[in-house]
Amino acid sequence: MDRGHAPDARPVTVPRLRKMKRKGTRITMVTAYDATFARMFDDAGVDVLLVGDSLGMVVQGLDSTLPVTVDEVIYHCRAVARGTQRAHIVGDMPFLSWQLSTEQALRNAGRFLSEGGAQAVKLEGGVDAAPTIERIVQAGIPVMAHVGLTPQSVHAMGGFRVQGKTEETAARVLADAKAVARAGAYSLVLEGIPSDLAQQITQAVEIPTIGIGAGPHCDGQVLVCYDLLGLTPDLKPKFVKRYAEFFEEGLAAARRYCDEVRNGVFPSEEYSFGNVKKDEAPASGLSLVQRVRPVYGPKG
Ligand code: KIV
Repeated sequence: MDRGHAPDARPVTVPRLRKMKRKGTRITMVTAYDATFARMFDDAGVDVLLVGDSLGMVVQGLDSTLPVTVDEVIYHCRAVARGTQRAHIVGDMPFLSWQLSTEQALRNAGRFLSEGGAQAVKLEGGVDAAPTIERIVQAGIPVMAHVGLTPQSVHAMGGFRVQGKTEETAARVLADAKAVARAGAYSLVLEGIPSDLAQQITQAVEIPTIGIGAGPHCDGQVLVCYDLLGLTPDLKPKFVKRYAEFFEEGLAAARRYCDEVRNGVFPSEEYSFGNVKKDEAPASGLSLVQRVRPVYGPKG
C-alpha cells in the first residue's frame, strides 16, 4: 500500500537532518510508543519519532519518568520500528542508564540500535554529559542531546520548571548546548527555556535544535503525541497546542458502544456471521469453530 509520505518518501537520516538545518527546512518530531501511532505519524510525514521516556507518564500512568527502564523503552522502540517506513527513530535513554560508567553507557546505547531498531539515542545532560556523548558517538551511535528543562532532574529542579530565565542560568544552558555540540551530538532538544535563549543557541550551534516549550526560533519542534492529539485531559501546559481531541472523541465513542451493547443495537446483522447452513453442517463434518476460523485469517 502506498503510505503517501509527505513531503517525500526517502528515509530520514542523520546527514539529512543536518542538511535540513543548513537549508532552513523545519524538522518535525513527535513521540511515539507503539506501531499504530508510529504508522499514523510516519504516513503524515513526521521526520523524527522519539520513543521518549515520557511513556512512563502517558502510557504507564507514573508521575515522573524516573522509574522507566531501558528494557521498557526498547520494547516500545521495537513496536515503533514495526510501524515506521520513513521517519528517523530515536530511543530515549532513561534515568541512570548511562551515568554509572562508560561501559554501561555504551552497552545500553547500543541496545537501542541492535534490539530496538532505533537509529539514534537521546540523553538528557549538558557539560557533565559531554564526555559520555563523545564516547557513544565514537562507537558509531548517533546521539541527540537534551538541555534546559530535563525531566529526569525533576527533583534537582524543584519541579518541571522553565530553565534559563536569569542571565546566569541562561549562560549555563548555553554552555551546556555548546558542550554537547562539541562532543559530537548530531541534534539537540531544547526544552522549557525562553524563546530568545533558544534562538541564541540555535544560532550558536551547527547542529539542528528541536524545541519543546522553547518558542518558534528552533530548527524543529517536538511534542508528546498524547498532548498533540488531546489524549491528556487533565493536563494542558502553555506550550502545548492540541491538534485533535482524541480523549473526548474516544470517551463519546466508548459511551455509545456501551449504550448500544446494553440496548441490543450492537451487533446487528451487518456485524454478524449469519446462521449455520443446515445442509452444510453434517456434510462438511466441520465444527462451527473450524468453519468460522477462515474469516479471522490463519490461526496466529
Ligand atoms: O521523553 C520525551 O518525550 C522527551 C520529549 C519531551 C523531548 O524527552
